[in-house]
This record gives sequence, structure tokens and C-alpha cells, in this order.
Amino acid sequence: MFNRKLAFSLPLLALLGAGAAHAETVSVFCASTEFELCTKAAAAWKEKTGNEAKINKMPALLDDAIPLYQQLLAAKSTDVDVLFLDVIWLGMFKNNLLDISTLVPKADQDQHFASTLNAAKLDGKLVAMPAYMDVGLMFYRKDLLEKYGKPAPKTWEELTATAKEIQDKERADGKTDMWGYAWQAKSFEGLTCDAIELIGSSGGGNIISDDGKVTIDNPAAVGALTLAKSWIGTISPEGVLNYDEEASRAVFESGNAVFHRNWPYVWGTSQTKGSAVIDKVGMMPLPVGKAGEKSSGCLGPMYYGVSKFSTKPDVAANFVDFITGPEMQKMRAVDAAFNPSITALYTDPDVLKKIPFLKDNQQAFADSASRPSGYTGTSYNRVSQAFYRSVHDMLSGSKEVESGLKDLAARLEKLKESR
Ligand code: GLC
Repeated sequence: MFNRKLAFSLPLLALLGAGAAHAETVSVFCASTEFELCTKAAAAWKEKTGNEAKINKMPALLDDAIPLYQQLLAAKSTDVDVLFLDVIWLGMFKNNLLDISTLVPKADQDQHFASTLNAAKLDGKLVAMPAYMDVGLMFYRKDLLEKYGKPAPKTWEELTATAKEIQDKERADGKTDMWGYAWQAKSFEGLTCDAIELIGSSGGGNIISDDGKVTIDNPAAVGALTLAKSWIGTISPEGVLNYDEEASRAVFESGNAVFHRNWPYVWGTSQTKGSAVIDKVGMMPLPVGKAGEKSSGCLGPMYYGVSKFSTKPDVAANFVDFITGPEMQKMRAVDAAFNPSITALYTDPDVLKKIPFLKDNQQAFADSASRPSGYTGTSYNRVSQAFYRSVHDMLSGSKEVESGLKDLAARLEKLKESR
């Protein structure tokens, strides 16, 4: 609703010189799934500064933004000022991102989790500001677990057994569309996440270690991927080989999956009108491969940065500071269950009301698995592509797991040489 306060404050801003006379427009990329949240942030920024943020929707699959950004930045385009960035892209794009360390006030930087902010400090520059945390989590039908007297599974083996039992019993009960587990096995970046979660929590490492050793060819990785392969066609539909986050979420939120791996935002969407599972969902850290291992949710914070070619770096950095600041992170959390990167919001009553398990997620962040983008830097995308394509081949059966991992390791050694 348009309130009277707002109606009077805009002309006042103009009078004070903060508005129309000097108004600037910056062009901003936002994830397609976050378009409404970004539009809301742009409206709030306009009210505060008089400046406009023109929101451009990114491609539905985040991976498709990589070539788009590469093209725009290679052409030194001035058409875009602010870029939405996945944590794994920071190294890839660092040379074309502006150092905003002096444009974003130090006190604002210090509000964020230090490790998340530090991940954006590359070659002595601050190349982006964190907008929210992301970590792989397990959502489940708490009503169905209760109905069949099953505890929340602690290991992937237990999840497999519980998923199968409940799926079979529900089907026998007439719910013929029911599946045990909806996850992401399409050949895309999300599969890198799902796979390292399984491998990491089984003691199989992280593809490439922090000091650059290719570690992926090991028995724990063979075991983890063999188990995942066994799910396809049994507890997960064949179609999972083409599921990204949104496709798998649709299955869960239409009531047709017992377990669902996804990012924290599903807490918001699954409890919102249109979902068939309102009040029926539980959330927990991902299971582990074997007792004693750490749950290894893929770590995926998202950031905003300024293009080095922006003609309005100060205004663009001000927008980045605003959209990543406490007010907008609270709005994202309360409206859509996004997990903040700002420490103080973890005790904010409004945020905790919307996301009661937020404190548990802090443990999931601490235990998380990072993709090897730190070591691989600008070649991360090629490493991840090689990984998820070959994992996809193993899951679909066009390659054996054991020999597939050997071939992959050899290929990664070659890629390392060309790094
Ligand atoms: C989420 C994560 C991101 C990850 C992507 C994979 O957006 O935040 O880090 O790369 O999913 O699909």
C-alpha cells in the first residue's frame, strides 16, 4: 500500500538535493528466482537515495550467466554496473571486478561473517560483498516419518532405507507418484555440489585438495557415487538426471518426495501458498557417509560486486552496500527464508520466527564442504565441468564409477598443468 509518509518523503528528498536532480541509474543483475526481492530492494534504495536500480533477470540456470558475464566483461561493457556472483565465480571474474574496499564503509564490511567476507578478498582487493549464505540441507516430510515411526536418518545408507520403505508403503497406500528422494543430478554446477556432499561426508575429500593435489580417485568416492547411482530408478525417478534445484523442488512441494536436498530458500517456498506440504516439512543437516564423518553441505554464499567498467562506481558500490546490508538481508530472511551473512541477524527475533532452525544452520556452515575454487581460480569452471559431466556419465550408467574416477583424475591433472 502506498502510504502517506512515502508520498511526502519523495518531494522532500528532491528538495534536499538527494533525489531527482542528481538521480543516477545503475544496472543490476539479479537471479531470476530473486527478481521480486531485488525489485523490493531497488524500491527501498530509491526511497533512501533517489537513485534507481534497473533490475535485469539472469538466466534461469545460474551457470548460463557465466558466458554472459564473460562476454560483457570482455567487451568492457558499460551496460552493467552491479553483478550478482556465486562464491565460485569470484576467482573467475576477479580481474574484472572493482576493488570496493574503500567504497563500502569498513563498519558495514565488519558486520558479515569474517570467513564469508574474506572469501571475497582476492589479490588484496575486496571484489564483492556477501548477500546471503547458502549451504546444502536436507528437507523431509516430518509427517511421513512420524506416520511410519522412523527417526531422521543420520547416514546416507539410513536415508536410502527409510526413503525406500516410506515410498513403497505410500505407493501401496495409493500414492503412486511418491518417490523417496528428490535431488539434483542434471549435468550442471549443482551436481558438483550434490556429489561433493556425498563424497566429502564419506571421507572422500574435495576433488582437489587445498594444496592442489587431485584427490578424487579414492575408494570412499567410489562408494559414495555407487550409492548415488543405486538411487536412480529406485528411490529417485530417472528424471533426476535432468533435475536442477527448481525441478526437484517442484516434486517435493507437490507432495511427491519423502526427502529433498536443496538450499535454505526451500524453507520459505515449501511453507508458502501453492505448496502441498505446508506444516509437514522438517529440515536437518545432510546425512554423513559413515558415522564419525562430518555432514558436508556444499557451501554456496552469494555476493554482489561492481564491474570494473561501470561508469558510476560510487553509486554502484552504494547499491551493493545497501542490498547486502542488514535491512535488506533481514527483508530477504523474513520474506523468503534466505540465511543472512550478517552475524547480528542470527539473534533477530523476526528472523528467528521465520527460520527457527537458523542457529543449527550455523553448524552446517561450519561443517560445510567448499568447492575447490580457491586453488583453481580462473580455471574452476573447467574443473567443475569436467567433474559434473563425468559424474553424470557415471550416474546415468554410460561410464563405470571406478574407471570413470580414474579417467577424471587424469583429466584433472592435465587441466592443472594448463592452469
Ligand atoms: C546455489 C548456490 C551456489 C551454487 C548453485 C548450484 O545457487 O548458492 O553456490 O553454485 O546453487 O546450482
